[in-house]
Amino acid sequence: MIHPDCKQTIIDRARIEEVLSDFMSLKKAGANYKGCCPFHNEKTPSFVVSPAKGIYKCFGCGKAGNAVGFVMEHEKMSFTDALKYIARKYNITVEETHLSDEDKQRFDLRESLQIVNSFANEYFANNLHNSDSGKAIALSYFKERGFTEETIKHFQLGYCFEQRDAFTKEALAKGHKLEYLEKTGLTIVGEHGNIDRFRGRVMFPIHSLSGAVIGFGGRIVGANPDKKFAKYLNSPESEVYNKSKTLYGIYFARTEISKQDQCILVEGYTDVISMHQAGLRNVVASSGTSLTVEQIRLIQKFSNNVLVVYDGDMAGIKAALRGINIILEQGLHVSVLLLPDGDDPDSFARKRSADELHEYIKANKTDFITFKTQLFANETQNDPIERAKLINDVVRTISLIPDPVTQMVYVEECSKILKISEDVLQKQLQKITATQIAPTHTKYVAPTPTFAPPQFVEQTAPQAQVEALYNTEKEILRLLIIYGNETVQLPFLTQPIRVCDYLQSEIIDGEMFLQNETFSAMFNEYFEQNLQTLDAQKYFSFHQNPQFAALTIEFSSKDMALSRIWKKKQSAYETEEQKLPSLLVETIGTYKKRRLEDECEELNKQLKNTTSPEEIIQISGILVKKKNLIKHIAKELKHVG
Ligand code: CTP
Ligand code: MN
Repeated sequence: MIHPDCKQTIIDRARIEEVLSDFMSLKKAGANYKGCCPFHNEKTPSFVVSPAKGIYKCFGCGKAGNAVGFVMEHEKMSFTDALKYIARKYNITVEETHLSDEDKQRFDLRESLQIVNSFANEYFANNLHNSDSGKAIALSYFKERGFTEETIKHFQLGYCFEQRDAFTKEALAKGHKLEYLEKTGLTIVGEHGNIDRFRGRVMFPIHSLSGAVIGFGGRIVGANPDKKFAKYLNSPESEVYNKSKTLYGIYFARTEISKQDQCILVEGYTDVISMHQAGLRNVVASSGTSLTVEQIRLIQKFSNNVLVVYDGDMAGIKAALRGINIILEQGLHVSVLLLPDGDDPDSFARKRSADELHEYIKANKTDFITFKTQLFANETQNDPIERAKLINDVVRTISLIPDPVTQMVYVEECSKILKISEDVLQKQLQKITATQIAPTHTKYVAPTPTFAPPQFVEQTAPQAQVEALYNTEKEILRLLIIYGNETVQLPFLTQPIRVCDYLQSEIIDGEMFLQNETFSAMFNEYFEQNLQTLDAQKYFSFHQNPQFAALTIEFSSKDMALSRIWKKKQSAYETEEQKLPSLLVETIGTYKKRRLEDECEELNKQLKNTTSPEEIIQISGILVKKKNLIKHIAKELKHVG
């Protein structure tokens, strides 16, 4: 367990916009930040982050929480692991009171592999720039390929010496353990001793989204490498490197992908680097394999538009086209760019300026489905069976798109290319959609609200009344937590009063205790913990009682929603703070009135059931008092309303 003091330090230090920025792109919008929600597919940002409150809220899917919650949800981490993650980001030493052995091992292993990788990265770069053989063999190779010094440094390229274990020896001498060298794959441990996996190769470090070196690609030096050896070698899978979840270049491209709202997808390391050097910085590579869902999700954190670049090799394209359905299924918009025959993105970019590249993209970029349909339409023109196959294939592809409106657009477009009526395509589409029992794309399911109005004491009261009382109590709690230490001037008081003092006198001193257990517990804890002088929102949003935390986050985000609307409508509306005095009086008045009415009802029942004259007189007396009070409150309410 993390020491409670340490936990507090982490929570205090974490800035939500900084933590979230490691996983998604955020743009400043007034006092808040905005971005596309990483938890559901969307094109227009409805995910709002409030640095002041330390929370986020998606107005599209309803997800909300604080920095720790975000890391938990997004990275599927436990609370403790999320805290540790944030601690590391801010260089806070985590004090453990007790740590399970398994946790400790896993934690240590990741850390150790990371350390070894980062050591290797520096070592390889140093070889490249500061050794004779590095300069003569590797640096000159990179320069021949047209990489500038700046580019080489930016991508942290390196060189692994030819000697069989130069790296391993150096790493061991520097105190790194053989176990970790082997687990990162940098060293191959064999019967005849240790060998450097990447010996004699130029090195391309692979970075995680947050910039840590998690693996390497190593290329044989030379334009036409010996076919006997693999041109590229990659790090094996490890505790830190998972190929299917990684995109080469994502660390360098992420900001630009979100700025341009487009991700350019290429095949290899050198494609990314050359395009980046030419001025196109929103480029990543799948590293030669077909794209995985995890890689697509990675792209979707920054944009929903992907431009896939192919070199002009027809056989290759047709093979690649099959793999692309997966991108469509995830709701991404895919375009295709075909390069002239004989060029790959690397060679193509080297010959052109950024402007020329943009120009070429603009002129040649084709929507994926259109591209695919066109590509095959010509070939199948004279073969009815092939043509029928193509039509089916195209319709099947269209059926993968989650959005029906987009589907319609494609039906229209493809009907023109295939010279077949829209009707036929539409019917075929319906047929396919109907047979897809389980949709392949996961639709977002709105979370059920954490707090359904529970049944109150009076089971007989109509549901609407129960709900009204529940909502009023919730509103009282919200006012306390959001505005507790603000001071207001109420119409019937001569002196300004703090909101918390007013609520305390009305609810606790007035013996109008909240009926809902959770609300009541939070209300009391506020005063027990003397939160009047503290940040109650922060206190409760990190509360170990998850209900308290969820409620607080709901309150805080309601505030964000309101300010969003106001911003849109400008000055037409007064802010909630401006109308706080009347809001308070109204809420408390409504609540007291409702509670008094209930009490009166109860007293009336007692009256009916009693025959004792004393009791009748006593109850009637109380009833009159309460009814007068209700009248008084009603008058006050009319006054503020
Ligand atoms: N690749 C790989 N292993 C191989 C061949 C290729 O991992 N044996 C991956 C690399 O990520 C490579 C990408 O597939 O960058 C594309 O391969 P290829 O087109 O053959 O290489 P290029 O990127 O064109 O490399 P170069 O220009 O250096 O020859
Ligand atoms: Mn190439």
